Amino acid sequence: MSFFCSVFFVLLSFVASVCSQVKDFVSIDCGGASNYTDPNGLSWISDASFMRHGKATELQASNETSQPYKFSRYFPADNKKYCYKLNTAERRRYIVRATFLYGDSDSADNAYPMFQLYLDATQWATVTIKDASRIYVEELIIRAPSSSIQVCVCCASTSYPFITTLELRPLNLSLYATDYEDEYFLKVAARVNFGALTSDPIRYPDDPYDRIWESDLVKRQNYLVGMAPGTKRINTSKMINANLREHPPVKVMQTAVVGTKGRLTYRLDLEGFPANARAYAYFAEIEDLKNYETRKFTLKQPYLPGYSNAIVNIAENANGSYTLYEPSYMNISLDFVLSFALSKTQDSTRGPLLNAIEVSKYVKIFPKTNTQDAANLDFFRSMSLNGEWKYEDGDPCNPIKWEWVNCSTSTPPRITNIVLSGKNLSGMIPSEIAQLDQLTELWLDGNSLSGSIPDMSSLISLMIVHLENNNLAGQLPSYFGELPNLRELYVQNNCLSGDIPPALLNGKIIFNYTDNPRMNIMRNNKKNPRLILFSIVTALVVFVFLLLGSLWWLWKRLRNMVHDGSHVKSNSLRIISKSSIPLSMRAGSSVIDEALDLASYVTFTEIEEATCNFCKKIGEGSFGPVYYGKMKDGKEVAVKISADSSIDGTRQFTNEVALLSRIHHKNLVPLIGYCEEGCKQVLVYEYMHNGTLRDHLHDSVKKRSLDWLSRLLIAEDAAKGLAYLHTGCNPSVIHRDVKTSNILLDINMRAKVSDFGLSRQANENLSHISSVARGTVGYLDPEYYATQQLTDKSDVYSFGVVLLEIISGKSHISIEDYGPELNIVHWARSLIRKGDIASIIDPSFMGAFKIESVWRVAETAFLSVELHGASRPRMQEVEIAIHDAIEIEKGSASITTIESLSSSSALANHLEFLSSSSSNVPFAR
Ligand SMILES: *[C@@H]1O[C@H](CO)[C@@H](O)[C@H](O)[C@H]1NC(C)=O
Ligand SMILES: *[C@@H]1O[C@H](CO)[C@@H](O)[C@H](O)[C@H]1NC(C)=O
Ligand SMILES: *[C@@H]1O[C@H](CO)[C@@H](O)[C@H](O)[C@H]1NC(C)=O
Ligand SMILES: *[C@@H]1O[C@H](CO)[C@@H](O)[C@H](O)[C@H]1NC(C)=O
Ligand SMILES: *[C@@H]1O[C@H](CO)[C@@H](O)[C@H](O)[C@H]1NC(C)=O
Ligand SMILES: *[C@@H]1O[C@H](CO)[C@@H](O)[C@H](O)[C@H]1NC(C)=O
Ligand SMILES: *[C@@H]1O[C@H](CO)[C@@H](O)[C@H](O)[C@H]1NC(C)=O
Repeated sequence: MSFFCSVFFVLLSFVASVCSQVKDFVSIDCGGASNYTDPNGLSWISDASFMRHGKATELQASNETSQPYKFSRYFPADNKKYCYKLNTAERRRYIVRATFLYGDSDSADNAYPMFQLYLDATQWATVTIKDASRIYVEELIIRAPSSSIQVCVCCASTSYPFITTLELRPLNLSLYATDYEDEYFLKVAARVNFGALTSDPIRYPDDPYDRIWESDLVKRQNYLVGMAPGTKRINTSKMINANLREHPPVKVMQTAVVGTKGRLTYRLDLEGFPANARAYAYFAEIEDLKNYETRKFTLKQPYLPGYSNAIVNIAENANGSYTLYEPSYMNISLDFVLSFALSKTQDSTRGPLLNAIEVSKYVKIFPKTNTQDAANLDFFRSMSLNGEWKYEDGDPCNPIKWEWVNCSTSTPPRITNIVLSGKNLSGMIPSEIAQLDQLTELWLDGNSLSGSIPDMSSLISLMIVHLENNNLAGQLPSYFGELPNLRELYVQNNCLSGDIPPALLNGKIIFNYTDNPRMNIMRNNKKNPRLILFSIVTALVVFVFLLLGSLWWLWKRLRNMVHDGSHVKSNSLRIISKSSIPLSMRAGSSVIDEALDLASYVTFTEIEEATCNFCKKIGEGSFGPVYYGKMKDGKEVAVKISADSSIDGTRQFTNEVALLSRIHHKNLVPLIGYCEEGCKQVLVYEYMHNGTLRDHLHDSVKKRSLDWLSRLLIAEDAAKGLAYLHTGCNPSVIHRDVKTSNILLDINMRAKVSDFGLSRQANENLSHISSVARGTVGYLDPEYYATQQLTDKSDVYSFGVVLLEIISGKSHISIEDYGPELNIVHWARSLIRKGDIASIIDPSFMGAFKIESVWRVAETAFLSVELHGASRPRMQEVEIAIHDAIEIEKGSASITTIESLSSSSALANHLEFLSSSSSNVPFAR
């Protein structure tokens, strides 16, 4: 009774342990289409949801019926590795098993696959398919080195890598513990169940650890041959106590072979040998021996000193029948062909008996990449939303390294190179980079990296650093000057600021820092007097050059224009500058938010999309290049982009944009969006189909279509726009850069003024002076230039120049037309002084205009370019004059031709006007 109870109890606990064990099993049906539980109670999961590489393939030719063998996953035959990551408990022992069923026997004329199987960086097996219908099993017993392992296939030498199943089975207690497990995995070479009842292997649930005990009935080439005559298979159904260290399943112990003629011999091939091995023999007496009977035998082959003389007496060794005796060999050296022989001793009445054997090869663990280095690489991977590169699996360095890194040959390998040029990275450079202290090359150029450059002062091996073409901001860190091995440093085209460490400029380092508008050369560094001298001299030369240039220009202007000493400063208008933005706008974000509603924030990505990555440049404005774009809603836009940062700080840019977006007038090009990202400040304007007035005036073909009346209408539109800026807005806005290229023409050839109110001005040709006054040479108000007092009359001056261009069809400055020292104002004045009025008027009118109309405008133009702002008309007066001219032109008065000009009364009137206006402004030349 008590016996049955204990058996029942054992069975109960066995079932319970089986249940809890199976929960920890991981069974992956590679290429499988669904999750399912097989008849043995193992739950298989399809890899479809987590394996992004390779192709799931149903095995057509396979006549294997067990579900996990109906599918395999095939990977490309490239130089990448494809890995499955399995979670493990660190230091727990596991069986890791991969199986391979090729199935595709049709391709027999092609070579069958041969490729490598790796666990982490350790070469596990060379998978060589010779039989398309055989399931090749590779099993490794490991003590988990960390919280996860990666099983990888790669490096096909023929055909391509594939995998059919992947299984992870945790072990308990000290199963398969070895003296060498810190350095070696165990690769199972043979696990044979002798005397098996069928040719099916025994595994789960008979073996709670799901080891595969192969039947000795399996017929394979050179496997379990050389069997001695008289070998008999025996079995029992009695319970066997197998609770020794490796806990082999009872079912395996219930069968055995015996050598009835005194010998047991076998020969089998051990894949991957010769090698050092861990070997077990399992003996359990399963025959009921009579009292006088004995079973004693020795190991005759292979000859193992220290073992071969030992006499095995199972019942004695195991202290009883139906009890396991499990001698093992911790480290024996075995050949590829294992011949073994057991012989009975002279005095033994029975021949030798064998229940099972296990032979495993020691596989040296190959070191993984430094854990911290590998973890830090993940930060880089997470910086890109897409890109196949970031999905490279397995160990970064071994067996084959990721395409974007390079590694040292040290143990463990360290990351030496990171090459991520143009990989769409965004965000900040991870500060963890400081831990990659073996890094010699860092290539992060051509991405969208932002933020400041982190501390990399610990990376003393760094030799080459590419950070160019990003949006990096902040200071260029000074440690770059102290890295002992640095040879090349590229930071051009970023948004960096601050002083350049002098050591970078000593000529020993290739250093490119162009296009970082806010970066400058450090001046007072006491450590390097030669460098200071050099920078002082450079700065001086530049300064003197600039000074001379501006003096020359100033002198040229003054020589022609300054004749009256009384400077009248107009304070009547408010000037847009940082200080004139109402406090409420600067302080309360709500006001700004409200203002910003008018021009919406557009992301840089949207802008890139709209402009097909800035593929169509349509001009160069004072802000920067202008690109054509089409927004998602179909609206055509002109995108002005600037990487130059003369507006310091986002705040000011945002404030200005907020202000400008409130300004709406039919003769002002509306600002419909803006963007500030990294260094780039972007303004999105409505697209104007007919380009600039300048294009039309200075293009001989377009010019002809622009008759006098059309020009007048354009001038009126522009004047209305400017007048609105001066008086219609609160605070009022001074354009600062009125010129023909800022007067844009819409599809109906009506004009709108663009580019108003921005405090910034960028380089436009060489005709630009930004260090002294802002504006464009030839349009710049000489009074503003001399006094630095900006008023709305400065815009009037510039508009006067525009009017002269409209009348004459000539450019505002032109060496051909006016000589190097003259501009349109001087030219027109001197002609009028000589009485040669006809020469001012654009010959392409072919005389089709009314002279009174032209003169009405000319008169206003000359008044507008008066030296003193106070003498110039206001913008509304200019607007009225142009309107008069339009009325005159449209009126019934007869058309004047150039030939009849000299006799016209208008001319007489005009000469009168000239003499009165020129009385106090003599035309000096
Ligand atoms: C292995 O150990 C776990 C937890 O210690 C236990 O739940 C499980 O039953 C054990 N498995 C076997 C087969 O003994
Ligand atoms: C299979 O199981 C895994 C893990 O439980 C799950 O992530 C996946 O979505 C399942 N796949 C299917 C097809 O049900
Ligand atoms: C199918 O199985 C039989 C034995 O059952 C075997 O002889 C044959 O080669 C197998 N065919 C394929 C295509 O695997
Ligand atoms: C051994 O196996 C054979 C065949 O399955 C069976 O007939 C026999 O009864 C078994 N012997 C014992 C002792 O269980
Ligand atoms: C096994 O023995 C050999 C020879 O004594 C020795 O070189 C080796 O390190 C030992 N261990 C393993 C795991 O091979
Ligand atoms: C052997 O078994 C007997 C009873 O079956 C027991 O008394 C004895 O202690 C056992 N010896 C050893 C070494 O386990
Ligand atoms: C620095 O980079 C810019 C932009 O890439 C390039 O045009 C220039 O030639 C480079 N200068 C040097 C000295 O290499």
